[in-house]
Amino acid sequence: MSAHAINDRRHGQTTLAHFFFAFVRGPCKLLSSGAWGERCRLAKFGGECIHSDFHICEDAGRMGNHVASELPKSCDVENLWLCERASVVMAKFSVLLFLREQWTVLVVTGTNVGLGFEAAVHLAKLKPKRLLLTTRDEAKCKQAKQDVEQCSVTNNIEAWPLELGSFDSVRKFADRIESEGFPINAFIANASIATFTYAKTQDGWETTLQVNYLSTALLSILMLPHLIKSTTASDTARLVIVASDAHFRANKLKGVANWPSILGKLNDEEYCTASVMKNRYELSKLLQVMFVREPASRLPNPTPVSVTSINPGFCHSRLTRSVESNLVMKLMVHVGKALLARTTEMGSRALMHPAVEPSERDRHGRYMSCVEVAEESDYALSEEGKEISRRLWEETIEILAKIDPRVNQIISQHLLAR
Ligand SMILES: NC(=O)c1ccc[n+]([C@@H]2O[C@H](COP(=O)([O-])OP(=O)(O)OC[C@H]3O[C@@H](n4cnc5c(N)ncnc54)[C@H](OP(=O)(O)O)[C@@H]3O)[C@@H](O)[C@H]2O)c1
Repeated sequence: MSAHAINDRRHGQTTLAHFFFAFVRGPCKLLSSGAWGERCRLAKFGGECIHSDFHICEDAGRMGNHVASELPKSCDVENLWLCERASVVMAKFSVLLFLREQWTVLVVTGTNVGLGFEAAVHLAKLKPKRLLLTTRDEAKCKQAKQDVEQCSVTNNIEAWPLELGSFDSVRKFADRIESEGFPINAFIANASIATFTYAKTQDGWETTLQVNYLSTALLSILMLPHLIKSTTASDTARLVIVASDAHFRANKLKGVANWPSILGKLNDEEYCTASVMKNRYELSKLLQVMFVREPASRLPNPTPVSVTSINPGFCHSRLTRSVESNLVMKLMVHVGKALLARTTEMGSRALMHPAVEPSERDRHGRYMSCVEVAEESDYALSEEGKEISRRLWEETIEILAKIDPRVNQIISQHLLAR
């Protein structure tokens, strides 16, 4: 068992984020000095202990100077991990800092079920100033709001409709955010689909390509000014795109160098044979991982927004509902989930982590797997992968700029030319 010493004097979200980090990292013994009983209260998330292997040693002794020898013998310490902010442990309490940390505005997409729902419940328990959830329609919004409020014992959540299969819906969502003019501290682009079926949206794009990639990219760009607005010298806004380790299984795009347009080809019904569509979800996740690198490399340094793609790991959720119409797939999915899948709640912690945990600038532009910075697939990192990323960015911006003129304005105002 490893010990994670949470040694942060601050209250509220930052401290909770550290606790969360400890939970995500697995069984841990949490140490808190006796004088800081408050940490023990905070550790009990909404009154309940959310990790069964989570212990609090109120008598852990004075930790101010991080001296391991000061720890009581009773603590089974193999590895003392001191959080990054331990150095500010004796800092003065700042009312302004406290208020800013408590008053965050968080947005999560795709929250009626699955990882998005569980992440929304956790975020609601942080009692942010504003928690905005999205689902595909008003009825699901009403239900998601009610369910999240019930599970988190809160009552000030908002839910707005956002259908990623429609650029019009994405534009309307962005208009509404703009008209209210509020800054966003963290935006978690979680919503995605997995299907083997080729179907076109009303905008003429293959559905997975539009929902998982084009609309997610449009949304990310339209949210940049609102994220930038919330950034301060010490806290950077976060844009989190929920990708997947499925991107490792994305097939290589054979002959891509000769395709006049990558997105045009991927949208072409003739190209999208059954075997291509069987790999479409994986490919869409590769496109998301590649997308993240591009705005990240064009934002100024230090960045006003930390852009990250994440993999929550294999989890129970509704994601496979469409592919389960195939009986063989259904069997494989059920056996695989029974043997390997994490609970939806456990997976949701990977969404929470980059949205609330400090060191956001260290994660900027990176792919994170199960709360740690990880390498993208060899294909994404290869010279061909880099060239595809670059071409994709250019094509994507060209397409999105026709859909919404704000795209070019945002890019020229906030991103650097490369
Ligand atoms: N579960 C896993 O093992 C796993 C592993 C790696 C990565 N991920 C990623 O985690 C994220 C969440 O997936 P999940 O497993 O929680 O799946 P899920 O249970 O199917 O939830 C997906 C969410 O996205 C929404 N959504 C789907 N299509 C949409 C559209 N056109 N417009 C707006 N919202 C839409 C769904 O709404 P409806 O219910 O209305 O369709 C739902 O709220 C996805 O990005 C997925 O790729 C999941």
